[in-house]
Amino acid sequence: MDRKASIRVAPPGPKGKKIVDRDTRFLATATKAAPIAAVRGRGVLVEDADGNTYLDFTSGAGVINTGHCHPRVVEAIQKQAAELIHFAGTDYYYDVQARLAERLTEITPGKFEKRVFFTNSGTESIEAALKLARWSSGRRQYIAFIGAFHGRTMGALSLTASKPVHRDRYFPTVPGVEHIPYAYCYRCPYKLEHPGCGLWCVKILDEVYFGSYLPPGEVAAVFAEPVQGEGGYIVPPRDWMGALRDLTLKHGILLVDDEVQSGFGRTGKWFCAQHYGVEPDVVALAKGIASGFPLGAIVFRRELDWKVAGAHSNTYGGNPVGCAASLATIDVIEKERLRENAAGMGDYLHKRLLELQESHECIGDVRGIGLMQATEFVLDRRTKEPAPKLRDAIEELAWRKGLLLLGCGRSTIRYIPPLLVSRDQIDQAMGILDESVREAQKE
Ligand SMILES: Cc1ncc(COP(=O)(O)O)c(C=O)c1O
Repeated sequence: MDRKASIRVAPPGPKGKKIVDRDTRFLATATKAAPIAAVRGRGVLVEDADGNTYLDFTSGAGVINTGHCHPRVVEAIQKQAAELIHFAGTDYYYDVQARLAERLTEITPGKFEKRVFFTNSGTESIEAALKLARWSSGRRQYIAFIGAFHGRTMGALSLTASKPVHRDRYFPTVPGVEHIPYAYCYRCPYKLEHPGCGLWCVKILDEVYFGSYLPPGEVAAVFAEPVQGEGGYIVPPRDWMGALRDLTLKHGILLVDDEVQSGFGRTGKWFCAQHYGVEPDVVALAKGIASGFPLGAIVFRRELDWKVAGAHSNTYGGNPVGCAASLATIDVIEKERLRENAAGMGDYLHKRLLELQESHECIGDVRGIGLMQATEFVLDRRTKEPAPKLRDAIEELAWRKGLLLLGCGRSTIRYIPPLLVSRDQIDQAMGILDESVREAQKE
């Protein structure tokens, strides 16, 4: 499949249907976004079993930052698989893992000495951060944000607060988590406006929570996404994360920066916190780290490290093939200047979305940093009533026309193509989006 092939879409045909039917019979949960059975991907394009070609503006849920099957990543995986596929990385040493740990300490924010713990997913990185924070601080409580998504295992789920369905029938979650509102300026829960608000959404911790019932000396860590992802691609004001950092430093609370979705060049810098000049104590990584190979990590201040062997561990974390894929990913992002492309194409995509907003009343808000862009759909711009059904209809029309999109929040669509996306591909996607919004409104 040519990476520059053009999109070609007919309704998914019999081959795809066979795969969908088999999947549905034997294992599918109810979470599928569209009945598309992919067989191969190259760059920004994905081909299905019936030969249809789609523009992938989901990057496989924010993972394929270097594009589908980047040849240098494929080569690194093949080479490593022929040398050493597995060798319990928490029990022994191997070079590719050590090299990746070193690279991760170089590219993550903060010039201090760091340590790395490898995992297999974003959820598992958050679990590791939860345990590290309690272990190293001796404190028991956590603070997280309403709208947050940090994963789905019981610890991570206890922080997650973006959709009721994630938690329904799973209570009790792990005790000790306080949720406070995120800096969602488009729908400020305090009905204030930035900057006149003086960042009340951070100050409230000191002035209300810590002053009334939550002693700050009990709080191990604050978990924050620098752009809230599943919660609706909510971009906080540029001074929000810095204010949070100051407050956590004042009380000796750890700041865990969840860069699982916003990391690895997605926003135009290695990590989104770097836009805000913030140095977190712990950075949680996964998704874009290895171009699709299941790998995650936390990178943290050296002094926080578990001082007892076995206090935390796993079998597959930092698997050699995943580490090789990750080193190649970092290399590609650097050598092909994908952060620069994400910044430039992100600005262009943002501009095109603002133009669409001018012609479609239902686009209430356009927001994003780099190639982490989104539009929030509303029934009425004045009341801002969310339009989830309209959003879902737009997504469906778009994939039928050859553009893959993913929703988030109550009525938002995110636009997260691989970082090597071109201007032409953005223009093509915006054409399809424009048509889809027009048709969905008629329906
Ligand atoms: C910010 C954030 N943290 C954690 C996770 C969980 O990652 P995973 O699905 O790899 O377990 C996600 C997944 O979407 C995420 O967006």
